[in-house]
Amino acid sequence: MTLGRRLKPQSESPFESGEAVTLQFEGRTIQGYDNEPVAAALLAAGIRVFGRSIKYHRPRGPVCLRGHCSGCLMRVDGIPNVRTCETLCRSGMVVERQSGWPSSGFDIFRSIDWLTPDRLDHHGMFTASSSVNRLAARFIRKLSGLGEPPTSDPPAAVGLNRFSSEVVVIGGGNAGLSAAMALAESGHEVVLFEASNHRGGRLLDASCCIDDPARGLLTGWSVFNTWKSKWENTAGIEIHINTPVLAVYSGDHLEVLASNPKQTFLVDAKRLVVCCGAYEQIPLFANNDLPGLFGIRAFDKLISAYGVVPGEPVALVGDSNQTLQLAGLLSDRNVGLAGVVTNQRDGELVERLKGKNIPIFHGRKLVRARGSKWLDRIELAPQDQTTADLVLDCKSCAIEGPPSPAYELAHHAGCRVTFRSSSGYHVVTDKQGQTSHSQIFAAGHCAESATSALALNHGQRAGLACAISLSDDPKLTKRLDELLKQEQDAQSESDCPLVGGEHG
Ligand code: FES
Repeated sequence: MTLGRRLKPQSESPFESGEAVTLQFEGRTIQGYDNEPVAAALLAAGIRVFGRSIKYHRPRGPVCLRGHCSGCLMRVDGIPNVRTCETLCRSGMVVERQSGWPSSGFDIFRSIDWLTPDRLDHHGMFTASSSVNRLAARFIRKLSGLGEPPTSDPPAAVGLNRFSSEVVVIGGGNAGLSAAMALAESGHEVVLFEASNHRGGRLLDASCCIDDPARGLLTGWSVFNTWKSKWENTAGIEIHINTPVLAVYSGDHLEVLASNPKQTFLVDAKRLVVCCGAYEQIPLFANNDLPGLFGIRAFDKLISAYGVVPGEPVALVGDSNQTLQLAGLLSDRNVGLAGVVTNQRDGELVERLKGKNIPIFHGRKLVRARGSKWLDRIELAPQDQTTADLVLDCKSCAIEGPPSPAYELAHHAGCRVTFRSSSGYHVVTDKQGQTSHSQIFAAGHCAESATSALALNHGQRAGLACAISLSDDPKLTKRLDELLKQEQDAQSESDCPLVGGEHG
């Protein structure tokens, strides 16, 4: 069993690792690369516990690697609560854990968690006396793992760039990029904001596979490379990566506020297309917060973008093609596998895994993770029971959970959302991506349950509908009608999507 190692870079990878740099981590010198986040460098160095939880003192580690959980919060260059999965390595950077006493690795307060079984409530620990409260605050801060205030000056204010654009697209994943492209090809100017450091969304996952009826299973990377040249060669799209949208104001007209470390944007837009995607979730089971448990996409990103294996052997749990594809890729790269837990029993990918002698477990679900500070094993039980009948030793586990749609910005802008029992709230749209707000469209995972391939179609369709709302062009209407008909025909031919996808 190993904790943390690096794989050799892959020539076909769309990611570049960048220059080697060194970081300081609690007295150790850690090797990283200037194009990879701090969390990846720490995991490669075998560091699993990144902190302690605020309400209890349970160990915490990265889970999503996309800035959507709080497992990777650390103190970086004197600034507390920095998301290390979103912060790129820089030479000389000083990284520290910020919670736990005497350290995050060994937190003595873990032993008193039984005193607060309903969680630690720091708000209820203050008294009427301000002098007692000053003392209490010090103690509570140690207990609650919020870190110490920053020692450095706040960063200088960045300039405000205020301008107008016909359309703003939020999200540079498959849906957002194809919506932007459809709009730009229709002659409209588009500004696209993407929160992460990369555009391309799920196509960047090495394990993303798209079942094309004409060409068989295609990898996400091959589809990404086809689309990339189109995105890069379409005039009229201005893309800002690493620039999250902070707010959408929809009064008399739409305004979109976005910001990155260099500037803040306030864009006056006629239309908005929301393609914020979805958050990865870990399903419910006992100890599902142990360091070493990752979302399947997060694990894929570690392997494919940064070549980091956080621990071996690896267990994979999930029913989609993406899980099976990732298992095959790990095996090809000589990563030790504990097994794959899936309900897929046949098909090309299953046969491929069998051919590689990878253990496959059917008809079971994950009921518990075990380990004192990080994952040591998972327990599996038959689908209809809760008592484990099988234990898999593993140091990492990549788990697929139902994605939770990122509906918030559209909701704040006044769009109607509705609840779906399988995945939670999502943005309500008609077939063309029009929301309940006349100037706002939505597509992809924030609005519909979609595979990567479908998100590309949905984005295109919302982009065209948005373009038609700006300039009632019969040619665009004809194109949109054709697209909708193609989708309808494909749906009626099979229950599978137009080009199936990662959801098996
Ligand atoms: S926010 Fe960094 S791992 Fe989830």
